Amino acid sequence: MNRKIAVLTSGGDAPGMNAAVRAIVRTGIFHGCEMYGVQMGFEGLVKGNLSNLTARDVGGIIQQAGTFLGTARSAEFMTEEGLKKAVGNLTSLGIESVVVVGGNGSQKGAHALVQAGLAVVGVASTIDNDLYGSDITIGVDTALNIALEAIDRLRVTASSHHRGLLVETMGRHCGYLALVAGLAGGAEAVVIPERELPPPYIAGLLKAAYERGKKHALIVVAEGAQNNAQKLLAYFRENEHDLHFELRVTILGHVQRGGTPTAFDRVLATRLGVFATEALVRGDHGVLIGLLDNRPGMTPLREVVGKTKPLNLDLLDMAEMLSK
Ligand code: F6P
Repeated sequence: MNRKIAVLTSGGDAPGMNAAVRAIVRTGIFHGCEMYGVQMGFEGLVKGNLSNLTARDVGGIIQQAGTFLGTARSAEFMTEEGLKKAVGNLTSLGIESVVVVGGNGSQKGAHALVQAGLAVVGVASTIDNDLYGSDITIGVDTALNIALEAIDRLRVTASSHHRGLLVETMGRHCGYLALVAGLAGGAEAVVIPERELPPPYIAGLLKAAYERGKKHALIVVAEGAQNNAQKLLAYFRENEHDLHFELRVTILGHVQRGGTPTAFDRVLATRLGVFATEALVRGDHGVLIGLLDNRPGMTPLREVVGKTKPLNLDLLDMAEMLSK
């Protein structure tokens, strides 16, 4: 390899992305590489917005949420013309290696760069935890802890008022955040796209919780579920169910993305970032770097693209059993 490496962050920002970029850049410099940062993800690559990064440029960011490089969802990059421009902007600077930090869409972009002849490694980062090739991704732990703190707070006020609370988490089409937050938060019901619950069944759960003497009922809903929080609320209102609990809705949304990265996310990002640059240095590329059986490992990007990681539904059965 020619030892010039560009790094970009792409897709939704995830807490720990900065820690990953710091590790990628400093590992490269340690191994004698020249490091470049691309601003605003693939969009910046198409526009040629990239500049040299020194070890000092990535100082003081390990604890910061978001991504100091910026991120975007670029439609232009996915066109033939856009990809050509992006590759041209790299090769004109003599850069043949790229590290792409991001989730599913971003790794699709990484694969497009591989097919264009570049040496690329992906680093698994998304709060959704739906990326095939990593048991857990950078940002998930922080997002979960934010959701959980909100759930714990909501439970206090729900108990005081004897109310039911519908809490909606992010996760796009994946129910991981809702499932694990629901399990850890002691929810009465967890509604996820991987196993939809019909509204009358959920109404039954709330009624049963009331009859068992519970002072509140907590339903955690994934945004990707057919019956998301707003739809469930509308259903309960229209059907005037005798739930015994007055309902309130909280949609957590982007709040889950902005938190200070937890120790787990900083360490995960650091381990994956170091492994990614060292993979490039020793000549491994065309792969996603993720955590596999608790160690950084590689999965070919062609196997990652177009797939999503299945959810462990045993956790859902567990949550349901323990809510009684
Ligand atoms: O993929 C991360 C994620 O936060 C999803 O959970 C969510 O559906 C989506 O991004 C939101 O995207 P945007 O920030 O573009 O609104």
